Amino acid sequence: MASPRRRSIKIHTPEDFAAMRRAGVLAAQTLDFITPHVEPGVTTGALDRLCHDFIVKRGAVLAPLNYRGFPKSVCTSVNEVICHGIPDSRALADGDIVNIDVTIFLDGVHGDTSVTFPVGEVSDHDRHLIVETRVALDEGIAAAGPGRPVHAIGRAIQKHANRHGLGVVREFIGHGIGTEFHSGLQIPHYHDPRAQTVLVPGMTFTVEPMLTLGDPACGMWDDDWTAVTLDGRRTAQYEHTLLVTED
Ligand code: MF3
Ligand code: CO
Ligand code: CO
Repeated sequence: MASPRRRSIKIHTPEDFAAMRRAGVLAAQTLDFITPHVEPGVTTGALDRLCHDFIVKRGAVLAPLNYRGFPKSVCTSVNEVICHGIPDSRALADGDIVNIDVTIFLDGVHGDTSVTFPVGEVSDHDRHLIVETRVALDEGIAAAGPGRPVHAIGRAIQKHANRHGLGVVREFIGHGIGTEFHSGLQIPHYHDPRAQTVLVPGMTFTVEPMLTLGDPACGMWDDDWTAVTLDGRRTAQYEHTLLVTED
């Protein structure tokens, strides 16, 4: 999600890192927990409820609920939905793809991660989209590190997408994260040479590329949350929360 430029970038302490690791682990465990439930016939609302109960039992909360008016606990983005899909009574069908985006708030800090799941048997095109979006995230992460500029991340993601004939969404970017859900750093997933901030140990941010089979141009439903491809073709996303260490 975009945030205004020129906000200060927080440098986290080892104690903050420990807390963020706990939040990140719990977010990842939520995705592991929900994986076997992502089957034809399940509704996105049921997946939301299952994640909610899993997290509340563990003494944490899901950050999206009531965040700027978001009405549910996780985001479920199906097929042509790029991100921020709102869980509802829609039942997933064989051949759909769905991204589930989980953001935990635990001990004062956030952990934000997402995966795109195939529902039942998906087409070769959709499998290609999902697999290469995952690899693009890994390429972006590999380009990050102390002393590296932020634009190296988007350059690596864009290069991977180009090589595989996929589009890169520009309207939604990675973000600083920590005590706040969205703060400070902005991480474009395309090559933007203006993103000159140099990464230093203590920074924490997400990388969350959204890749498309067709044109990455983006529209918005009138719920003001659900972002979709204008051409109606499918899109996938993966996300990790990162912290920059000395090495
Ligand atoms: N988790 C999303 C992200 O990666 C943000 C969701 S905001 C919400 O930044 F309100 F839609 F949940
Ligand atoms: Co995020
Ligand atoms: Co997220």
